[in-house]
Amino acid sequence: MVNIAVLGYGTVGSGVVEVINTNHEIVNKRAGQEIHIKYVLDLRDFPGDPVTEILTHDFNDILTDDDVKVVVEVMGGVEPAYTFVKKCLLAGKSVATSNKELVAAHGPELLSIAKENAVNFLFEASAGGGIPIVRPLNSSITADDITGITGILNGTTNYILTKMSNEGADYDTVLKQAQELGYAERNPEADVEGGDACRKIAILTSIAFGKHLDYARIHTEGITKITAEDFKYAKSMNATIKLLGTTKNVGGTLYSFVAPMMLPNTNPLYGIDDVFNGILVHGNVVDDIMFYGRGAGKLPTASAVVSDVVDAVKHMGTNIMTIWDDEALEMGDFADLTNRFFVRVSGGSEMKEKIEEIFGKVQFITTHEVAGELAFITENMTEAAFDTKKKEFEYVINVIRVAF
Ligand code: HSE
Repeated sequence: MVNIAVLGYGTVGSGVVEVINTNHEIVNKRAGQEIHIKYVLDLRDFPGDPVTEILTHDFNDILTDDDVKVVVEVMGGVEPAYTFVKKCLLAGKSVATSNKELVAAHGPELLSIAKENAVNFLFEASAGGGIPIVRPLNSSITADDITGITGILNGTTNYILTKMSNEGADYDTVLKQAQELGYAERNPEADVEGGDACRKIAILTSIAFGKHLDYARIHTEGITKITAEDFKYAKSMNATIKLLGTTKNVGGTLYSFVAPMMLPNTNPLYGIDDVFNGILVHGNVVDDIMFYGRGAGKLPTASAVVSDVVDAVKHMGTNIMTIWDDEALEMGDFADLTNRFFVRVSGGSEMKEKIEEIFGKVQFITTHEVAGELAFITENMTEAAFDTKKKEFEYVINVIRVAF
């Protein structure tokens, strides 16, 4: 029997307890021994919940108990999670976490402590919710030079954008629904301003390339400027709008960014709706691989965490080699990345000449559903060049990069 402890009894923590209880036979069989939850740590009390019997408010109960071999950290946020996880690893306990803020900020250090102590620091649930993506990048797609990772990495914003697109739903109402469904972060700004997707692409990129991509270096835009009008144009082009996290190799230079993108209906990520996430990985020999599943929510996230617990139990006494060095991953300057841009400007057809004078050759987009403005797609140009042109033109309403 292996004793484990769960730090945090929120959405994911209660999901972990539920998954271990519901699937105990199958989980124990796969782990090779019985997994027993000895403690759940939370500051709160849960009267009437059976968790009360194993609930502690004191982290030291867990840290000093040598019987606890695996600790699940699902509190979220960098502190006190970082301090707790570090202490557990140093005390010879493996850790499984869903905490992307922690992993993005301290991944290399925690992996190195785990290695020194012959334990494991596992974080499958930190990106893509229930989708196995960290483990495949670390253990399966090892024959390829990875040339791109692009994905819908945030369930909350995908849920919001889907409802806006399909039902013309109002942004605030849908965000509230996503919170009620347990998809959104405690502070949903992390979802809607792109910070959550940014940390996830930083984690996946670091694992794929073996060096540290500091999330603070990633150009990040969220979905708060996307409106119903943008979706009307998208529909007129047989396209939709998705928040993507992307890392790509362009001529030997890596670029990473998070932004809403216009996706044509031919793009494999086009049909990924609601809370689902989809991640496309491109390798130089395998070509495209796509990962798809629920990107947020209690049980899917808990499923990934419990898989890590099983892996930790299976590898007791052995560190699973994971290359994510502290050394900074060399990245290109976002200003040099080229994109095509969908641009909406106020005014009528009298503006066309001025638009072409500034933006060069463009493709005008018409929809009868939006009046009093013009929209166009530029040719490929660098972010820096587009920025300069945009500053020269005071009538811009909104800009979305296009993936076609
Ligand atoms: N708030 C996150 C999301 C939770 O919506 O994707 C899963 O990481």
